[in-house]
Amino acid sequence: MTTCRICRGPVREFFDFGSQPLSDAFVAPPATGPEYRYRLAVGACGECGMVQLLEEVPRERMFHAGYPYHSSGSAVMRAHFAAAARRLREAECRRPDPFVVEIGCNDGIMLRTLAADGVRHLGIDPSRGVADLAAAAGVRVRVDFFEQSTALAVRAEEGPADVIFAANTICHIPYLDSVLRGVDALLAPDGVFVFEDPYLGDVLDRSSFDQIYDEHFYLFSATSVRAVAERAGLALVDVERLPVHGGEVRYTLARAGRRQPRPAVAALIGDERRRELTGPAALDRFAANVKHNCAELTTLLHKLRDDGAHVVGYGATAKSATVTNYCGIGPGLLDAVFDSTPAKQGRLTPGVHLPVRPLAEFRDPFPDYAVLFAWNHADEIIANEREFRERGGRWIMYVPEVRVI
Ligand code: SAH
Ligand code: TYD
Ligand code: ZN
Repeated sequence: MTTCRICRGPVREFFDFGSQPLSDAFVAPPATGPEYRYRLAVGACGECGMVQLLEEVPRERMFHAGYPYHSSGSAVMRAHFAAAARRLREAECRRPDPFVVEIGCNDGIMLRTLAADGVRHLGIDPSRGVADLAAAAGVRVRVDFFEQSTALAVRAEEGPADVIFAANTICHIPYLDSVLRGVDALLAPDGVFVFEDPYLGDVLDRSSFDQIYDEHFYLFSATSVRAVAERAGLALVDVERLPVHGGEVRYTLARAGRRQPRPAVAALIGDERRRELTGPAALDRFAANVKHNCAELTTLLHKLRDDGAHVVGYGATAKSATVTNYCGIGPGLLDAVFDSTPAKQGRLTPGVHLPVRPLAEFRDPFPDYAVLFAWNHADEIIANEREFRERGGRWIMYVPEVRVI
């Protein structure tokens, strides 16, 4: 039995994906030498309810100058973060000369809006390649891991923050205790810490098992976030469900006693209690669904290959590392994966080594089938690639279940 990274309570493992490569470690061909591997297994704490990985990967192995994920590749996400920036500015930047800090600013997808509006801000991100892109977009960036010591340094140099924001980053940080001590050090007395991450409830409802990989150390719920916040002297004062990335929740934390929690907090926690979100029935059902979906997907791909169909992948996502490596989907089943990110093109996907090709080659000629590994961007991608369907091409989905559309 492992102990909880947050509260030292007992963690019950509910899925073991076995040995896996790092999800964003694209390989330069020819692939020589072994790749770094770790054991990908996930469990839920019986005390605080936090769902977490059982093995931690050293952070410098994941987040470095060559980190290939560029947030601004999706028009839907650009619009999502422009709206988030405007809302934070209107609702939380009431003091004169407000200061907004973003943890994990990546290429500046959110802060570029505040930078353009002249709001004092700082992005903190350890991955120099994406941080340089943010700087080129007019964002002030500090290339660093956010933790308590970083927060103390920023506080000393720039004063307190009215807003600390993070998207798809806090769940990447095992040392959440240090992050929250840092938030406590940096936040103005009436400031807010707002972060959004994939929601455990949606992952279980949709069997979206590919949300589980090295970088996603935690899978949050309102119950577990409230527990960890309270340990740090903070209160969970608002939750909002978001449709992006397959279902997320935006959590708002404030200093204990400074803000009245919105009714949505008690409502979501009540819902999680009633459905026994991390109870054995829910987690065992999830585990059975993962095995079922994986078997269905590989059966379909083997059949299509035997029929002589031309089948590819679309979106060299971090998520796809879990699907391809766990289910065994390599070059024998897919010819290539098409992706818009220059830093991934010309490389091989981690572990199974599918070649990553630029989107321009997707139509050259169109394949018969494409597995949509970027299923969280389905509306955007299916609209962009309308011609694929018009010419008889079919998308293969595997979340929430395997189907051809
Ligand atoms: N906010 C963006 C980026 C998410 S990717 C979006 O929602 O699209 C996660 C980012 O977090 C990466 O750019 C990574 O370099 C960064 N990151 C990882 N650990 C971090 C830490 N301890 N402090 C700050 N950023 C971190
Ligand atoms: P995403 O699902 O956002 O994240 P993760 O890697 O964390 O699973 O990744 C989307 C990938 O899909 C990214 O590599 C860019 C690519 N992509 C396209 O190729 N075309 C598109 O239209 C979009 C929106 C994304
Ligand atoms: Zn715990």
